[in-house]
Amino acid sequence: MSVFKREEVLYPEYLPLNLPHREGQIRLISENLSLLLKNSKPMNIFIYGPPGVGKTAVAKFILREFEQYSGIKNIYINCWQYNTSFAILSEIGISIGAFVSRRGWAKDEIFSRIVQTMENNRLNLIVVLDEVDQLVKNDSSVLYDLLRIENYTKQKIGLIFISNDKYVFRNVEERIRSSLNLEEIEFKPYTFLEMKDIVEERMKEAFVAYEDGVSALIAARAAEKGDVRIALEILLKAGRIAKDKLRVEDVKKVIKEEINPKAQEIMKVLSEEEKRIIEILDRPKTTKEIFEELKKSSNISRAEFYRILNEMIKKGLIKILGKKNRLSVLHKVL
Ligand SMILES: Nc1ncnc2c1ncn2[C@@H]1O[C@H](COP(=O)(O)OP(=O)(O)OP(=O)(O)O)[C@@H](O)[C@H]1O
Ligand SMILES: [Mg+2]
Repeated sequence: MSVFKREEVLYPEYLPLNLPHREGQIRLISENLSLLLKNSKPMNIFIYGPPGVGKTAVAKFILREFEQYSGIKNIYINCWQYNTSFAILSEIGISIGAFVSRRGWAKDEIFSRIVQTMENNRLNLIVVLDEVDQLVKNDSSVLYDLLRIENYTKQKIGLIFISNDKYVFRNVEERIRSSLNLEEIEFKPYTFLEMKDIVEERMKEAFVAYEDGVSALIAARAAEKGDVRIALEILLKAGRIAKDKLRVEDVKKVIKEEINPKAQEIMKVLSEEEKRIIEILDRPKTTKEIFEELKKSSNISRAEFYRILNEMIKKGLIKILGKKNRLSVLHKVL
C-alpha cells in the first residue's frame, strides 16, 4: 500500500492552498495590485531572494487570487523562456487576445494591438516577469516598452519582477529605473521553525500517515539553505521507499543519499577553478555567465576557461543541458 494520499502535492510545480510564512508579503502585494480594480496605477513590485524561498509560488498564488476579477488579465512569463522585448510583447499580446499567431508582426504593430485591446476591453494587466535577470541582461528595452504602453491608454499595468539578484537593475538606464517606481520586497531564507510548518502542511496534504519527528528532521536539513525544494525532494523520495507509514528511518536513508559524501570527496581534489565553476553553477548557466562570474575572482584567459570546461564535461562534473542564444547552457552533475 502506498503512503501517499496525493503524491502530486510534493511535485515542484504544485501550488499549495496556503503558503505559510509568506502571508505578509502576499497581503502587501495583493493590496497594492488591488488598486487596479479601481483603475489606479499600482507600484511595480520587485521580489528578490535566494532559490526555493517562495518567490515564484507567491507570484502565482497572487495571480490565482486575481483570476476571479473580470477586467484584470494575469500574465506569467519566465524569462528563461522569453528573453527579448519582442518575445515578451508577443506573449502579452497573445494572452490578451490582441492577435493569435506569433508570426509576421512587427514590434510596433504588436505594441499598438496591445494598447488597442486593453483600451477596447477596459483591460488592466498584471504581468509577472520571473527570472528577470535573463531579460535585463539580454534585452532590457522591454522595460521601456512596458512603461510606454501606459502613455497610450488609460488602462493600467502592474508589474512584478522576480530575481535571485538584488542588483539586477543596476545597469539599467537611470531614467528607466526610476520610472519603474519599484517597491522592493526581500524574501529571506526560511528559518528552521518556518520550514517545519511548511513541511508539516505539505505532509498533511500528501501522506496517509507519518511518524512524529519526520518534519523536524527534514526541516533541519532544508533550513540549512532555507530552500523548500530540498524538503519536497526528500519527502518525495522518502515516501517512495516507505511502506505503510512515512517513518524517520526512511527519511534518514534519503538524507544520507542526498548529502552525497562522494561528491564532497570529489570536491576536495578539484582545482580552484573547477571548484569555483561548480559553486557558480548553483543553477543552469550559459558559458558566458560562468566566465563572467569566474573572471571576478581569477584572471583566467578565455582559452584556458574553455579548456577547463571541456575537461570538466569529460570528467562528468558538469553537463550541457542545451543551447541559449547560441551559447551552451551548463549545469553541475554533482
Ligand atoms: N511558504 C511556502 N509554503 C509552502 N510551499 C512553499 C513555500 N515557499 C515555497 N514553497 C514551495 O517550494 C518550492 C520552491 O518555491 P519557489 O518555486 O517559489 O522558489 P523561488 O523562490 O521562486 O526559487 P528560484 O529563485 O530558484 O526560482 C515550490 O514548490 C513552492 O511551492
Ligand atoms: Mg522561482
